[in-house]
Amino acid sequence: MASFRIRQYQDQDFEAVRALFARGIMEHAPAGFRHALRAARVRLALLAVFVAARAAAGSWVLGLGAVALALVLLWVLARAVCADYVREALGTDLCDVPGTYLRPPDCRFWVVEEAGTVAAMVAAVPAGRGELELKRMSVSREHRGHGLARALCREVLAFARARGYGAVVLSTSMVQVAAQRLYEGQGFRKVGTSYPSLLCTSLNFQMLYYRCDLGGGNK
Ligand SMILES: CC(C)(COP(=O)(O)OP(=O)(O)OC[C@H]1O[C@@H](n2cnc3c(N)ncnc32)[C@H](O)[C@@H]1OP(=O)(O)O)[C@@H](O)C(=O)NCCC(=O)NCCS
Repeated sequence: MASFRIRQYQDQDFEAVRALFARGIMEHAPAGFRHALRAARVRLALLAVFVAARAAAGSWVLGLGAVALALVLLWVLARAVCADYVREALGTDLCDVPGTYLRPPDCRFWVVEEAGTVAAMVAAVPAGRGELELKRMSVSREHRGHGLARALCREVLAFARARGYGAVVLSTSMVQVAAQRLYEGQGFRKVGTSYPSLLCTSLNFQMLYYRCDLGGGNK
């Protein structure tokens, strides 16, 4: 951590944080695709496509071709789940970081700077009921494995304690395995799961909800 500096977001970070966030989410598309392929309902659907195409065309080759097409569609859908999430974030809070995270009370947006570049980022916003939400955690690939995410996580937890919050909450997805290990190592526990859309349900793409109780909150 010696050459890294954690500081508040500044206007010149705009493009860097948007790109860092987008890359961090889009890299999960292949894992989402593989995860969907492991779901029993997806395998059954692929089998049904094969049987129907084979019966309709009377050809094994066309049956296999239909399965190949279905796999391409599955890949497009898995990518679309990630792309939709990125589009939504870039069009809302990450379109106006000062308005969302710097000016409102009890909000923050930290970046980790290394040699003038943004290496990592995280945000915090009040989530109601005395909880602070940790959001937009991302570390650039070339800076991973050096404890940057752990340091940012601690920054958010310390901020929440200092402001009298009783808990820090966050959401992640089942394919973000490194993030799950990170949060569990920092004292978060899984408190719920959900499928955020019909598409996610069909791809077996679950969101996971985590919570870290701080004790002694006064919000
Ligand atoms: C998840 C992420 C933020 C971790 O960043 P990082 O700076 O490399 O993490 P750290 O070096 O601080 O590691 C902290 C802990 O995270 C976990 N972790 C990090 N990388 C991991 C990996 N590849 N596999 C499993 N666990 C991993 C470990 O528990 C690690 O603790 P340890 O070193 O004692 O084992 C980073 O991989 C990332 O930006 N991923 C893409 C975006 C993303 O998924 N963000 C989370 C949004 S909810």
